[in-house]
Amino acid sequence: MKILVTGGAGFIGSHVVDTYIALGHEVVIVDNLSTGSRNLLNPHARFHETDIRLPALAEVFETEKPEAVTHLAAQIDVRRSVEEPSYDADVNILGSLNVLENCVKSGVRKVIFASPGGAVYGEPTQLPVDEDCLPKPLCHYGAAKLSVEHYIYLYRHLYNLDYTVLRFTNVYGPRQSPHGEAGVCSILIGLMLSGKQPTLYGFGEAVRDYVYVGDIAQAAALALNKGGGEVMNLCSGIGTTVREIFDILKEILSFPHEPILRDLRPGEIQRIYASREKAARVLGWVPEMSLRDGLERTVRHIQGQ
Ligand SMILES: NC(=O)c1ccc[n+]([C@@H]2O[C@H](COP(=O)([O-])OP(=O)(O)OC[C@H]3O[C@@H](n4cnc5c(N)ncnc54)[C@H](O)[C@@H]3O)[C@@H](O)[C@H]2O)c1
Repeated sequence: MKILVTGGAGFIGSHVVDTYIALGHEVVIVDNLSTGSRNLLNPHARFHETDIRLPALAEVFETEKPEAVTHLAAQIDVRRSVEEPSYDADVNILGSLNVLENCVKSGVRKVIFASPGGAVYGEPTQLPVDEDCLPKPLCHYGAAKLSVEHYIYLYRHLYNLDYTVLRFTNVYGPRQSPHGEAGVCSILIGLMLSGKQPTLYGFGEAVRDYVYVGDIAQAAALALNKGGGEVMNLCSGIGTTVREIFDILKEILSFPHEPILRDLRPGEIQRIYASREKAARVLGWVPEMSLRDGLERTVRHIQGQ
């Protein structure tokens, strides 16, 4: 199958591209390299350096005529979304609309959309949060992504563009930047490797659901042929405090210091973990990587950089 992956030079996108190519698919990448990196581009994929918001995207669709689109390109920084909501909406809403319009014009069969489980649900009233819970985003990033979920539903209704919405919780693993604004595991590893005391927000008690990037890439491959018209969580189903992540890393790295504890920042939620029952039922997907093994791999990757 010929698949266009937006954001294919990014952390998750590059793993998705590698998995698609390993499965024998033809892959085209669209990325503006704003947070992605040329080093992460799979050499067997064709790369178009462009912005999803630009009219130039139409040329890519016209030339490449993809059968499916996996749309991962996004502004993913929660705090930037709160500080610059128009910029966030420009990339995440208008950019996504441009992708969807081009899907319809060029006859794409299916779009797979990466939505952030944590940011879309807000502070859940029930745990684990499942897809029937009413999403109530508490940051602009979550609100923008949720609105795109609605547009995607609308495009299927109006134009018969099939979709699967995958709501990832906290994705971690090799290639996530230790210098970015998202990705607590890599940020902690980066700080601890340089001997700096990390700050744990929510006083270390903030609960998240950590899922390994390789497991996400497997689900993105399953979604090419399954899960049409569905929204589903991709998660471990386990709540882990940031303090627990710190403690595992402290042991792996023999880190001598204690963390600094601070309150949550604007837009951040206190506790979330999600149900993966629907993804198991619809996609046949079960995450395989244990947290400890996944963190060890992430540490080795960052050490090797
Ligand atoms: N990292 C997580 O824990 C997580 C959780 C839930 C959902 N997601 C979603 O997964 C997707 C990928 O996230 P990631 O963690 O790999 O982030 P990332 O920043 O590594 O990847 C995003 C990619 O999109 C590209 N990009 C950004 N704006 C663009 C634009 N206007 N035009 C073209 N390309 C653009 C960037 O250069 C980058 O390569 C995003 O849609 C994000 O919302 C991530």
